[in-house]
Amino acid sequence: MMQRRNFLQNLMLGTGGLSALPFTSQATNQNLQRILGYAPQKDVTTDEDYWAQIQWAFSASPNLINMSNAGVSPQPIMVQDALTHYNKLCNEAPTYYMWRILDENREAVRSKLADLAGCLPDEIAMNRNATEALDTIILGLELQKGDEVVMSLQDYPNMLHGWRQREKREGIVIKYVNHNPLPCEDNDLLVRRYVELVTENTRIVHLTHMINWTGQLLPVKAISEAVKKKNPKIKVVVDAAHTFAQIAYKIPDLGCDYLGASLHKWLCAPFGTGLLWVKKEHIASLWTHTPSDNPLKDDIRKFEGLGTRSFPIEMAIGHAVNFHNAIGTERIQKRLQYLKNYLLTRCVDLPNFYTQTSLKPEFSGAIALIGFKGMTSGELHNSLMKKSRIYTSPVTWENVVGVRVTPHIYTPIKDMDKVILTLQDIAKDQNKAPSK
Ligand SMILES: Cc1ncc(COP(=O)(O)O)c(C=O)c1O
Repeated sequence: MMQRRNFLQNLMLGTGGLSALPFTSQATNQNLQRILGYAPQKDVTTDEDYWAQIQWAFSASPNLINMSNAGVSPQPIMVQDALTHYNKLCNEAPTYYMWRILDENREAVRSKLADLAGCLPDEIAMNRNATEALDTIILGLELQKGDEVVMSLQDYPNMLHGWRQREKREGIVIKYVNHNPLPCEDNDLLVRRYVELVTENTRIVHLTHMINWTGQLLPVKAISEAVKKKNPKIKVVVDAAHTFAQIAYKIPDLGCDYLGASLHKWLCAPFGTGLLWVKKEHIASLWTHTPSDNPLKDDIRKFEGLGTRSFPIEMAIGHAVNFHNAIGTERIQKRLQYLKNYLLTRCVDLPNFYTQTSLKPEFSGAIALIGFKGMTSGELHNSLMKKSRIYTSPVTWENVVGVRVTPHIYTPIKDMDKVILTLQDIAKDQNKAPSK
């Protein structure tokens, strides 16, 4: 096992050839040392001293309480510093530093991501976001007119649009599960909803591991096994935008065939980073959207032939993985669950308050969807902003109505208290107001 001191040294270094460049400040380095000083086996879920060190590793605004982290996450200062450093370097001579120097580290970054994902490096491609990763799969799969895809009305709109384009253009058929009501705390029911729609023509089942609107977790492995048992021709596509680096699992354990994730959400990598995972045996048969001389070759790198883009962004992913590993996914998962439940348990009894998010860790993560009966999602969003400068995400989608409140690892408990106090205040105002 890597010695802690070596690990710390690695944290301070670049991703390879550019080692020992002191691009982070002494304060940032000392802060990282303190984070690493905690014994890995210690439960720190409610240890506010520990999480205070994490807060100092970020540069969160003191003027806004950001509870909209499910959209995109801020980066720790060390990741911002790495990005600035690589960017400055590349501006000295772009083709030399991007294509000759930084690109040499591409395989090291791939390996780091593969370690975190628990899979082979040869199954991981880096790209710009979950949309690009999932659209590569959705538009690259070989399907015929009449082939059926099972997905849900609560899947992410970009993915619904991707499959619907194929429906319009090529005559595939989409069948929809409707997750209503949410939350659902019955895994058998969640599995049944997908299995019931499977026919002999079903070729694809598309699953959102954590539904972005409410934070509902789906039992991907159980669904995958059950649908494949009914029709062995099925391949399972997983949208892991919200679970990668938030929930502890290894991709191969999900029993899926293809997966796409964002790295700028829970991994805190630079804006515009994502990951495509394709099970080794399916790489050759998946078409690319930026073809090379041989688009059907058995090499995951064929999905990275995008042309010129920001190599500094890609290289800084390695630093985000280092920062993440210094905390560990299990700790992050537990802390986020704790913060979300800290809020919900203190608000469930407020008059007219409701939530569409489970309090159970098997069915939820960091995301909480909340509302007040008689208030639109826009009204609640505006009220939180006006009263306390708490920024949330208003949601009105299918059967989901409310605001999405999402803390992150840098969120101090006093910010959660502020949200709770403001919600109590809104509940009081509502009680005073004449009913609509
Ligand atoms: C479930 C889900 N899938 C996909 C995406 C798209 O992610 P990206 O912005 O990285 O393309 C999102 C974004 O919020 C999401 O919530």
